[in-house]
Amino acid sequence: MTERTLILVKPDGVQRGLSGEILRRIEAKGYTLVAVELRQATPELLEQHYEEHVGKPFYEPLVEFMLSGPTLAIVAQGERVIEGFRSLAGVTDPTTAAPGTIRGDLGRQWPTKVLQNLVHGSDSEESAAREIGIWFPGLA
Ligand code: CMP
Repeated sequence: MTERTLILVKPDGVQRGLSGEILRRIEAKGYTLVAVELRQATPELLEQHYEEHVGKPFYEPLVEFMLSGPTLAIVAQGERVIEGFRSLAGVTDPTTAAPGTIRGDLGRQWPTKVLQNLVHGSDSEESAAREIGIWFPGLA
């Protein structure tokens, strides 16, 4: 089934110059780029995006990290792209993410309170629709 997902190259990925490499991996897998925009997040936007994490111990450091520089917001489309991108990204923690994945190949273990894990990908059709609406209201 053709579907869309929201992908973010987080500030650590943009600052380390990995945007092009991450876009390359998305396109190499056969997914189509529908929208790509470099954006400075705001606290309000992050509160919407990360609504399920508000109040968790890592929430404040996560917001601080996500405000530390621009984020590359991407909408990609393709067959089962939601699951496919999460597989490309690897598990949340870069230390345990498998080699061959974005986080496994490129992620570093940072000595911070938040996992600076380069990318975000929507985890379900419902969150993809919600997150695309937050980052790209014109596409919803
Ligand atoms: P993401 O997939 O964008 O969703 C929530 C983010 O919070 C996650 O990536 C990490 O950057 C961060 N995160 C999730 N779990 C933890 C944790 N246990 N400790 C620190 N940061 C976390």
